[in-house]
Amino acid sequence: MKHPRAAQLLLLAVTASARAAFTWQNVKLGGGGGFIPGIVFHPKTPGVAYARTDIGGLYRLNSDDSWTPVTDSLATDAAWDNWGIDAVALDPQDANKVYAAVGMYTNSWDPNNGAIIRSSDKGATWSSSPLSFKVGGNMPGRGMGERLAVDPNNPKIIYFGARSGHGLWKSTDAGATWSKVANFTATGTYAPDPTDTTGLNSDKQGLTFVTFDSTSSLLNGATSRIFVGTADNITASVYVSNDAGSTWSAVAGQPGRYFPHKCKLSPTEKALYLTYSDGTGPYDGTLGSVWRYDIAAGTWKDITPVSGSDLYFGFGGLGLDLQKPGTLVVASLNSWWPDAQLFRSTDSGATWSRLWEWTSYPNMNLYYSISTSKAPWIGPFIQADTKHLGWMIEALEIDPFDSDHWLYGTGLTLFGGRDLTKWDTKHSITIQVMADGIEETSVQEVASALGGSELLAAVGDDNGFTFKSKGDLNTAPATYWQNPTWSTSSSVDYAGNKPANVVRVGNTGGSDTQQIGISSDGGVSWNIDYGASTSIYGGTVAYSADADTVLWSTSSQGVLRSQYQGSFTAVSSLPATAVIASDKRNNTYFYGGAGAAFYVSSDTGSTFTKGGSLAGAASIRDITAHPATAGTLFVSTDVGIFRSSDFGKTFTRMGTALSDTQQVALGRGSTTDAWVVYAFGDGPAGKKLYASADSGASWVDIQGSQGFGAISSCRLAGSANNAGVVYVGTNGRGVFWAQGTVSGTGNNSPTSTTSTTPTTRTTATTTKPSTTSKTTTTTTTTPTKTSSPTPTSSGVNLAQHWGQCGGIGWTGPSACESPYKCQFQNDYYSQCL
Ligand SMILES: *[C@@H]1O[C@H](CO)[C@@H](O)[C@H](O)[C@H]1NC(C)=O
Ligand SMILES: *[C@@H]1O[C@H](CO)[C@@H](O)[C@H](O)[C@H]1NC(C)=O
Ligand SMILES: *[C@@H]1O[C@H](CO)[C@@H](O)[C@H](O)[C@H]1NC(C)=O
Repeated sequence: MKHPRAAQLLLLAVTASARAAFTWQNVKLGGGGGFIPGIVFHPKTPGVAYARTDIGGLYRLNSDDSWTPVTDSLATDAAWDNWGIDAVALDPQDANKVYAAVGMYTNSWDPNNGAIIRSSDKGATWSSSPLSFKVGGNMPGRGMGERLAVDPNNPKIIYFGARSGHGLWKSTDAGATWSKVANFTATGTYAPDPTDTTGLNSDKQGLTFVTFDSTSSLLNGATSRIFVGTADNITASVYVSNDAGSTWSAVAGQPGRYFPHKCKLSPTEKALYLTYSDGTGPYDGTLGSVWRYDIAAGTWKDITPVSGSDLYFGFGGLGLDLQKPGTLVVASLNSWWPDAQLFRSTDSGATWSRLWEWTSYPNMNLYYSISTSKAPWIGPFIQADTKHLGWMIEALEIDPFDSDHWLYGTGLTLFGGRDLTKWDTKHSITIQVMADGIEETSVQEVASALGGSELLAAVGDDNGFTFKSKGDLNTAPATYWQNPTWSTSSSVDYAGNKPANVVRVGNTGGSDTQQIGISSDGGVSWNIDYGASTSIYGGTVAYSADADTVLWSTSSQGVLRSQYQGSFTAVSSLPATAVIASDKRNNTYFYGGAGAAFYVSSDTGSTFTKGGSLAGAASIRDITAHPATAGTLFVSTDVGIFRSSDFGKTFTRMGTALSDTQQVALGRGSTTDAWVVYAFGDGPAGKKLYASADSGASWVDIQGSQGFGAISSCRLAGSANNAGVVYVGTNGRGVFWAQGTVSGTGNNSPTSTTSTTPTTRTTATTTKPSTTSKTTTTTTTTPTKTSSPTPTSSGVNLAQHWGQCGGIGWTGPSACESPYKCQFQNDYYSQCL
């Protein structure tokens, strides 16, 4: 195999072979949907800014406030971790240049070392320089920084503060090569949980920021004064070099308490501003401080906006108004109740005003309104909880050329506005969702119902979304899947003959809300399935064709079945965590797979017996039933796709060109009866998405240069209603769709392919489709993000992770879902941690 870092550049240009013209674009949620840990504005050129995400790559700001993804092509199957952006930096002398530190995890979840990527055309094309260690874009502490910075006086000089004890690194050739700064000996020793055997929380967090003093003198053409932060809270954590990086020392008089998250220079004031928290984030923080360091005088001043019982959070986001030196905004990193707090000062931190305050409890004066017009679903999402302003606020920037324009990232979205100075005049601002174009959900399942909803997308952290028709794909939804509201929906399916009937699974363990939701209006509104036990969650689901039976392959309690919304009972004839699917036309049939064994039920899932053999296959990964034809189904395995047209009695392998396949889906082809088979697998152009309209005689690369991350974590659906439309759900870049043509007569009849069974019956029936769908099941091999805490459902007696569980005036649950404990934060707030 090619080295993954070398491969990613080549892949921009390859794949000229069999390749159909599919142009990929996002299905629009419009609201981000996940954590935005960093934003940078160019200091010299108006309108140039980037926002980084932890699992969904880097985005560039457009003049209409929308964002364009710029790292999509880098996240190939082998280099999926390129979508973890741990730091971004701009060249102050050249607004076309952008740099980023990429890599997802520093533990074993990520097989690749990290890299510094660089672009000279605002992210249109990239070069990459491998590092000799890992980079952790989705690791704890990812909102600190920026860890990467370009010398404002010498664009060849770039510094990068590494994690895991690797120290400080420097490039003197504009990012092409890197070497360790030997004289910088601090490594940032803090690890949130040294006992964590996964390596996620036990890794040393390392260096947290690099900040040049652009006002300092030049030494051999380099900026002489450089500040570097480390993840330490009991010793020094801010270091300085006054000789362009040759020698370093701890800055005298520094707080030496809490972890520094952000450190920004106010050049006119010749001062640094720093935010500190008692955790490294992004979820934590119960105390913290804000400091101003006068560089010329060498003096530190505590400018923390609040004290005493008002101080029950750390500080993260820090934005300086470079047009008005001494004007700044800081944010609580996490104030879990009642809401985040933001503070603004126009006198260098001597005095502050708040974005909201208590009048007499429980009444508050809000000095803002929130507009969610660009992502309407954010409205009900944040209204379901007291936290409207957000959580996980690490990124906060004021446009260096426009004092009214500001942006801040949260665990859910990107907020901002264009009237910030009204804070000082009217003390009232409008905060808007400004994440248009940022799509960073972790998609768990996608489905398209023949005659029903065009797209059902189950997602992590934000429940899920329904798009009724193709015309809706570019309109941010009005709502997310509610009632029941969970954090994550792990699976969705619908009934083939009655496609308005949809079922979904929640992934919240220990909740007292049942984790099965049922819809009879195509996934618009939902009801709890009280046949489910509250103690069971996760996994995948299949709905029988006539919507009377739900089959549920749970994450921890084996396969269960419920009929007429009665209680779920164990299906002992299917192994635990089996891949499952329903026939889309015949209500009595369900299918299952575990290891090499294929199973069939002809009694609505009550009992399963072994079906035909899949010659040479050791592992069944996905099963999808034909949307229009009973008994025709497609099975994805480690050796490729098999097709059956006799309810799984016999199978034919669909050619030999595609092997090691992941999800498989059927989508409507260009003529009425033609269906295209889509599958992720290892084919002529590598591990990518392929389509076949000739029963597997040929497999065409329809992915092109679009990155989808690891193909094993991709979710797949063909449109059952629109010819040539296909959907890909990614782990961190939302749902993509494309429309194209794949030549061939369709896949209703098997053609001459390698037969692995003696006979293959051709299904002649082409039922007039009134309904149908695909059912998918898979295992996630890439860890998904768990970024945004979500509102708890009403009527819940156990608070969810991050939820409130006590405090003066609190009438909600006082206990937490397992394994979380209710922890006192202050008199007004206890939280499930
Ligand atoms: C430093 O952080 C650790 C871990 O959160 C904490 O146990 C310790 O008390 C902190 N030390 C100080 C001086 O704040
Ligand atoms: C490291 O520091 C020493 C002085 O402590 C200095 O002589 C040496 O030049 C420095 N090394 C580099 C590479 O700057
Ligand atoms: C479903 O399959 C069963 C068993 O083969 C058959 O008896 C029944 O007629 C089929 N139902 C439909 C609606 O095709």
